[in-house]
Amino acid sequence: MSGSPDRSDALFHRARAVTPGGVNSPVRAFNAVGGTPRFIRSARGAWLTDVDGRDYVDLICSWGAMLLGHAHPEVQAAVADAVSRGTSYGAPTEQEVDLAEEIVARTPAEVVRLVSSGTEATMSAIRLARGFTGRDVIVKFAGCYHGHVDALLAQAGSGLATLAVPGTPGVPESATALTMVLPYHDREAVTAAFAEHGHRIACLVTEAAPGNMGVIAPEPGFNEFLARTCADHGALFVSDEVMTGFRAGRTGQWGLDGAAEGWRPDLMTFGKVMGGGFPAAAFGGRADVMAHLAPVGAVYQAGTLSGNPVAATAGLTTLRLADDRVYEHLTRAGETIKAAAREALSAAGVPHVVQSTGTMFSVFFTDQPVRDFAGASRQDTTAFAAFFHAMLDAGVHLPPSAFEGWFLSSTHDDRAVQVVVDALPVAATAAAQAVGA
Ligand SMILES: Cc1ncc(COP(=O)(O)O)c(C=O)c1O
Repeated sequence: MSGSPDRSDALFHRARAVTPGGVNSPVRAFNAVGGTPRFIRSARGAWLTDVDGRDYVDLICSWGAMLLGHAHPEVQAAVADAVSRGTSYGAPTEQEVDLAEEIVARTPAEVVRLVSSGTEATMSAIRLARGFTGRDVIVKFAGCYHGHVDALLAQAGSGLATLAVPGTPGVPESATALTMVLPYHDREAVTAAFAEHGHRIACLVTEAAPGNMGVIAPEPGFNEFLARTCADHGALFVSDEVMTGFRAGRTGQWGLDGAAEGWRPDLMTFGKVMGGGFPAAAFGGRADVMAHLAPVGAVYQAGTLSGNPVAATAGLTTLRLADDRVYEHLTRAGETIKAAAREALSAAGVPHVVQSTGTMFSVFFTDQPVRDFAGASRQDTTAFAAFFHAMLDAGVHLPPSAFEGWFLSSTHDDRAVQVVVDALPVAATAAAQAVGA
């Protein structure tokens, strides 16, 4: 139906000559699904238009950032106004104060520092945790992604409670030698790691709800258990809400568990939605911990474009518009798509599990509920690739990987949702033909 993406093909060819893999972030290259990535010319609301003039319902939404859809008129107007007053000063602005106040008002963080990417946020939070505790070891979970921070690009070592090995060439062993990687949801592994190394652990960092191995809702009490274990050992609990923050719900994942259970992370990281489509992110948390950051404290952290006035304006305008109605809409649209996906995949006999946390959800191509990376890795990625391309042909741009959530926006209206629903049966049949291939 979509025909050959001639201009995307041509651009991909040119791009590969001057950029590794032709892309500036690996997942965009379609390596996991094959074929040519669509080069996008413009986007509006729930829709992407590629350089060949084809329209797609966008279920990537800039990997979660575009909560209000593309080219939102109020965000655009605020950004245009900000741009008209200059784009970067290297001096403080009112927008930064407003954005920090908005984040502090919506989350348990008492104090925040603005940065430019989620990677920078987690990297800085870990440095601060180490500086605050005077300890070096950090604990993370397999399958949780926190950006391309050296110490966090680690794979589990040969046994539980052992230190990790680099997950990529270019990261020296010394950078991951102080990182422990544990299976998600494994309380025994966490208890054992803290029992053996607790006095050396600066922090445990986790996605507030994993979204980078597909969406996994933390089992009730799991984050609370992590927070308590950290507290018992004098370590900090770092909750990474770069993806879930202001997306899983108004307050992020914490609003779904911590608020009711009565615990707070020591540090949190934010990104994506709070940048409104611009490079802005943040880390923050307990005021006494954040007081260790320069210029108040001794832990150094800085950035030429941190709190950039245009990015801060886009983020602030987005957050101010992200009211309860937005999340109610995302819930409704998500329920329709999830039900249709279950129905189509069941009818075609494709093993699948649909999982959600708040307004975030993903479809796993496996027959068992997924609670950790081992479970996510049991997916039939060949079936997903066939499914992905059939959806693309029908005008729906899914994330090009089986290990990602499907992201919606407040502009995914009945028409956009119907395009997704109508595409599902054919895509499910394509997946069925590829199952086990
Ligand atoms: C949970 C989480 N943390 C950190 C990051 C890194 O953010 P960035 O890509 O802005 O560096 C991501 C990116 O997807 C993420 O999902």
